[in-house]
Amino acid sequence: MEQVNRIAEQAEETRLLRDNMSRVKNIIMVMSGKGGVGKSTVAVNLALGLAKMGKSTGILDIDIHGPNVPKMLGVDDQQLFSSDEKRIIPLESSPNLKVVSLALAGYEPERPIIWRGPIKMNVIKQFLKDVEWGELDYLVIDTPPGTGDEPLSICQLLPDMAGTIIVTTPQEVANLDAMKSVSFARELKVPIIGIIENMSGFVCPNCGSVSDIFGKGGGKAIAERFKENFLGELPLDPRIMQGGDSGRGFISDSEGPAGQAMTAIIEKIIAGVDTKSA
Ligand SMILES: Nc1ncnc2c1ncn2[C@@H]1O[C@H](COP(=O)(O)OP(=O)(O)O)[C@@H](O)[C@H]1O
Ligand SMILES: [Mg+2]
Repeated sequence: MEQVNRIAEQAEETRLLRDNMSRVKNIIMVMSGKGGVGKSTVAVNLALGLAKMGKSTGILDIDIHGPNVPKMLGVDDQQLFSSDEKRIIPLESSPNLKVVSLALAGYEPERPIIWRGPIKMNVIKQFLKDVEWGELDYLVIDTPPGTGDEPLSICQLLPDMAGTIIVTTPQEVANLDAMKSVSFARELKVPIIGIIENMSGFVCPNCGSVSDIFGKGGGKAIAERFKENFLGELPLDPRIMQGGDSGRGFISDSEGPAGQAMTAIIEKIIAGVDTKSA
């Protein structure tokens, strides 16, 4: 009897979760095989760019062990609140942009969290079911590196998501891991919106010349090999790092090469997924 109740409870939870998320038109998960390749940077600037274009946007940080999104949006000193004991109200970091992360839920940045798979799955479920996202054009989900519990939970809980963006850097080792992400998405039947090559050439802040410190073309080569969409390259540029540390993003730097490259990437992403919003 207890087991029957548990199954009924789970079915009801899934129904509530899908119901809540059905108000979001396009869900995009950003992933990569490696850490430090720029997933959070891409996720944050994609969300900032969409919001700036007038799209109603959310960003969900499911990197439970290293939630960087609030810092990158300059809201890491703030907290999430709930309307009652069941609903969580997302933080509005700027017009059109709602943010949810464990770093906004009383998480202490200096203290590592040691959680196992099922607990992580429950936290992610809560972020999808109990957060009052409202009507959104886009929800961008930032994930931890690799093909572990967190991206797997998202794929299982949101089978209708618009798709995933895979971020890689030009070197061989990163590309091997990016291939795993491609296989992961294919196995789970999640559409691949495209691949981004980050840190693709160093732009000298003094003279503007470009040096390919980590090589070049690895992301494009993977896209060609797997017949996936190549979304573009982002340069290795100190302004990108400063945008992250300062909480402003670099997308607002519309004059600089990085800001321009990201804007072009966002336009391709919109063209690739915007099937549900008129
Ligand atoms: N193209 C780039 N140029 C300069 N710094 C970058 C670039 N991409 C990312 N960074 C910086 O590298 C660090 C790691 O990026 P992050 O987005 O946190 O990676 P991930 O989420 O994949 O672990 C951050 O400090 C970020 O600002
Ligand atoms: Mg990250």
